[in-house]
Amino acid sequence: MRRSAISLFAAIAVAAGAGTATASSHGDDDKAEKMVEYRKAVFTVMAHNLHPLGGMVKGKMPYDPETFARKADNIAAVAPMAMSGFRMQATADAADTEAKAAIWDNRDDFKDKMQDMVDAADRLAAAEPGDSAAAMKKQVKALADTCENCHDDYKED
Ligand code: HEC
Repeated sequence: MRRSAISLFAAIAVAAGAGTATASSHGDDDKAEKMVEYRKAVFTVMAHNLHPLGGMVKGKMPYDPETFARKADNIAAVAPMAMSGFRMQATADAADTEAKAAIWDNRDDFKDKMQDMVDAADRLAAAEPGDSAAAMKKQVKALADTCENCHDDYKED
């Protein structure tokens, strides 16, 4: 009885410790590193899905409504996952990151720009495959603009 109470306490302490000021700085570095990996993965998935959409609306790839809709859905599913990759700031030596420190000084603006992306991704996913090529192109460009709009301010080139 006593033993299980102690191990339960230990488990809680471990679970809670990661986010507290008592966590070692090495632990924080590891956490930051994981967070950077996570957000890069999210952005990589989005870019991978967006690329062919750009190709299709620019006529560099044949337009295939099914592929288009699937990739647009993928982006809309992943877009809301990016924000949680910015919960903590990684120091330059802790992680290989291109995120500018300005993100953590301008949280509201950064969140707004993230939301613009999520909204544009939702609009793109809601576009009907039968919509005119010009309309599809506009939606893809609108989404790509939200990527650039944030990168301009918050990502190192
Ligand atoms: C609200 C800000 C914001 C928005 C919106 C945004 N990004 Fe980014 N993106 C960043 C930041 C910051 C980084 C740098 C992350 C890092 O290195 O820690 C980044 C990095 C990337 C990377 C590099 C990933 C790597 O492995 O180094 C790609 C690719 C990318 N973004 C694509 C996109 C695409 C595509 C969109 C739009 C669909 C988009 N981003 C929207 C802020 C944003």
